[in-house]
Amino acid sequence: MNKPIRKAVLPVAGLGTRFLPATKAVPKEMLTIVDRPVLQHVVDEAREAGIEHFVFVTGRNKAVIEDHFDMSYELEDTLTRRGKRKEYEALMADLPAAGAMSFTRQQAPLGLGHAVWCAREIIGDEPFAVLLPDMITMAGRSNNRCLAQCLEAYDRHGGNIIAVEEVLPEETHQYGIVAVGADHGSSFEITGMVEKPKQGTAPSNLIISGRYILQPEIFGILERVEKGAGGEIQLTDGMVQLSKSQAFHGVRFDGRTYDCGSKLGFLTANIAFALDRPDLAPALRAEIEKLVG
Ligand code: UTP
Repeated sequence: MNKPIRKAVLPVAGLGTRFLPATKAVPKEMLTIVDRPVLQHVVDEAREAGIEHFVFVTGRNKAVIEDHFDMSYELEDTLTRRGKRKEYEALMADLPAAGAMSFTRQQAPLGLGHAVWCAREIIGDEPFAVLLPDMITMAGRSNNRCLAQCLEAYDRHGGNIIAVEEVLPEETHQYGIVAVGADHGSSFEITGMVEKPKQGTAPSNLIISGRYILQPEIFGILERVEKGAGGEIQLTDGMVQLSKSQAFHGVRFDGRTYDCGSKLGFLTANIAFALDRPDLAPALRAEIEKLVG
C-alpha cells in the first residue's frame, strides 16, 4: 500500500525575469488568467486532486500571496452589506481551510531544487506533490487535471512520478528531458533525466512539465546537490541521484499545459481559459475574429 499524498509544495520564490517589467512589484504567480491569479488555478488543481496541505516557498516581494489566501474583512463586509452573496460565497469557496497552508522562505532564489528543499521540515517523512505554480493545466478527455493523473499513476506504480509533455525536438535544450524505458502507454518507466541538454543530445522529446510526486529521501539529496544548469540548484539533478535507488515513472499528461512564466504561454492561457467560459466565450470569439479576420 502506497503512503497517501497529503501535502504539496508550491515554489513561488523565483524572480520572473522573463516577464519584466510586469513582475517587478507583482509576483508572476499573481498575474491573472481571466479573473483568477495563476496561483489560484494551481491551488484549484491540487485541491481537486485531494491535497490537504499547501506549502508555499516564498521570497521577498511575495507577501501579497499570503494576503490572497486570507480573509479580507473590509471586502467581505462590503460584499455582504451590498447583497453580493454570490461573489462573497465564491471568495469563501476559494480559501483553503484554516491551518491548511504553510509559508516558508527561500531567502535567495538559488534554484528550484533549493526551493523544494526549503519545505523539508514542513513535509517531514512522507511522499509529497510539487506543483510549479507558473504552469497551469487544462484537463483533456479524462476531465482530470495533471496532478490527479499523476496520483492515478502513483496508485499504480508507487515511488516517484513526473508529468511529461511532448515538444518539438529542436526545443528540448530549454527543458528537463526524460529517457523512456518500459512503456505502458499513458505511463512509462523513466530510465534517465537531464536538465537543458545541448541541442541534438536529448534522450527524447518528453519534457518535465511541472507536476511531480516525490519521496522524502529527495531532501537529503538536495541538501548536497551541486549547482547545475544556469548556476542553480536543479531539482532534476536531485531526481537523477534519487533514481539510482528508487523507481521513477513518467505520466503522459492528457490535457494541455500553459507556461504562464512566458509571455506567449500567458497570453495563450488567457484565451484558452476564457474560451472555456460560457459567460465569455461567444463575445471573445467574435472579438478574436475581428482582430485576425
Ligand atoms: P522558473 O525558472 O520558471 O522561475 O522556475 P523564475 O526563475 O521565476 O523565472 P524566470 O526564468 O526568471 O522568468 C519555476 C518555478 O520555481 C520557482 C519559481 O517561482 C517558479 O514558480 N522558483 C525558481 C523558486 O521558487 N525558487 C528558485 O530559486 C527558482
